Amino acid sequence: MERRVDVVILQVEHVRKAFAPAEAGGTGVTAVDGVDLAVERSEFVAITGSSGSGKSTLLHLLGGITRPTSGSVRLEGVDLATLGDEALAVVRRRRIGFVFQRYNLLPELSLVENVALPLVLDGMRNAAAEERARDALARVGMDHRAGHRPDALSGGEQQRGAIARALVAGPAIVLADEPTGALDSANSRRVIELFRELVEREAQTVVLVTHDPAIAAGAPRVVRMRDGRVESDTIAAGAPSR
Ligand SMILES: Nc1ncnc2c1ncn2[C@@H]1O[C@H](COP(=O)(O)OP(=O)(O)OP(=O)(O)O)[C@@H](O)[C@H]1O
Ligand SMILES: [Mg+2]
Repeated sequence: MERRVDVVILQVEHVRKAFAPAEAGGTGVTAVDGVDLAVERSEFVAITGSSGSGKSTLLHLLGGITRPTSGSVRLEGVDLATLGDEALAVVRRRRIGFVFQRYNLLPELSLVENVALPLVLDGMRNAAAEERARDALARVGMDHRAGHRPDALSGGEQQRGAIARALVAGPAIVLADEPTGALDSANSRRVIELFRELVEREAQTVVLVTHDPAIAAGAPRVVRMRDGRVESDTIAAGAPSR
């Protein structure tokens, strides 16, 4: 699919990720096997596919959490592979909001401290960071649980906290792995509505992984993975091209 280069925020070329590669004597699982993908600014993309098809691995590659075995991921024109660990950490804190499939909240911090952490690590004072964190929690309906530790929260509450943490720094791109997997239908709708708002009003870009056919059906663009490859990449008829 041809994409306009000037508005491409994420450019993935022939990216592969092999775990325990056969050439290194391992079992040789190629989780992502030669993916090409270009995402424009303000796009809303859903990635679907069966369990084990490589969705999480691909999302981790897009977010610079995993480094590819080969191929490249360019975010806002910068090849993530050229960045050292420190520079990559800065890009991840400022430009990327990542929602992990398993939430990854730190158990020893309260919810508001978890959400504020990316800002604090970036040098913001605690009080200011926590104020922003409370605003982010309010957007997912979780401000009333700000002082709780993650283990005192339900799965869906932790998931909404993880979403707030991803949004707190106002990232250029939100990468969300099954962000509604633990949510009831009302909260799922609310989260999807929030993501749409980010795209439509704040010109952010959202790439989310979902098993939920209803969410995929509502996304303007759906990328379907199979065996580590892109099986199809469809822009809905009538959807804006970006
Ligand atoms: N750290 C790892 N080491 C070895 N193999 C891995 C690792 N992570 C993932 N895999 C394998 O890579 C493949 C893709 O995994 P991935 O987690 O990307 O799938 P997924 O599409 O996100 O699945 P699900 O829908 O169940 O979350 C699977 O076969 C998995 O077992
Ligand atoms: Mg997964």
